[in-house]
Amino acid sequence: MTTDDARHRGTGSADDAVVTLRTGTAGDITAVLALWAAAGAHRTTTDDAPSVAALIGRDGDALLIAEIDGQMVGTLIAAFDGWRGNMYRLAVLGHVRRRGIATALVAEGERRMRARGCRRVTALVVDGDEHAADFWTGVRYVPYAMERYVHTLEPASRSPQDG
Ligand SMILES: CC(C)(COP(=O)(O)OP(=O)(O)OC[C@H]1O[C@@H](n2cnc3c(N)ncnc32)[C@H](O)[C@@H]1OP(=O)(O)O)[C@@H](O)C(=O)NCCC(=O)NCCS
Repeated sequence: MTTDDARHRGTGSADDAVVTLRTGTAGDITAVLALWAAAGAHRTTTDDAPSVAALIGRDGDALLIAEIDGQMVGTLIAAFDGWRGNMYRLAVLGHVRRRGIATALVAEGERRMRARGCRRVTALVVDGDEHAADFWTGVRYVPYAMERYVHTLEPASRSPQDG
């Protein structure tokens, strides 16, 4: 299995579709944002095109896309910052759920991060989202009690001497 040729044959469905995993690029951003909305993923502050473009610009390996017959059906951001791996925006369209697509995305994200030296991975789950919690425990992630403190930064403003 190579980075952009990870194939997963869906199970438990009538159509036995082949799921392909590949790296997301700038050309995918509009479709990725639409998929997050369609999948009912909890909206986050950075669900916009500039933020996804910044992610891809910093780490060209981090955005994973699952496809069936060339149609995007799932996503995952698997980002390694040199200290920890973090998984964000795991989302699979409703009509292809429970076929192992999210499991395959997580396995591929782990594979990529492990190859870069990552040893510990965090997946953030919204408090009380039992479906998501059931998924993550199913792929061997364990709850780790910790409060999350967040602060949204205003965009940096340009000073006159910036030119
Ligand atoms: C959570 C989500 C990504 C799972 O995608 P998926 O492709 O259906 O997941 P998989 O088929 O790989 O599921 C693997 C296992 O996880 C567990 N699981 C997955 N979805 C579940 C659900 N809704 N309720 C309970 N368990 C679930 C099951 O054990 C499942 O195995 P099984 O189908 O053999 O019972 C998908 O439901 C989704 O996009 N939900 C909306 C967005 C979201 O909640 N994202 C996660 C944010 S942290």
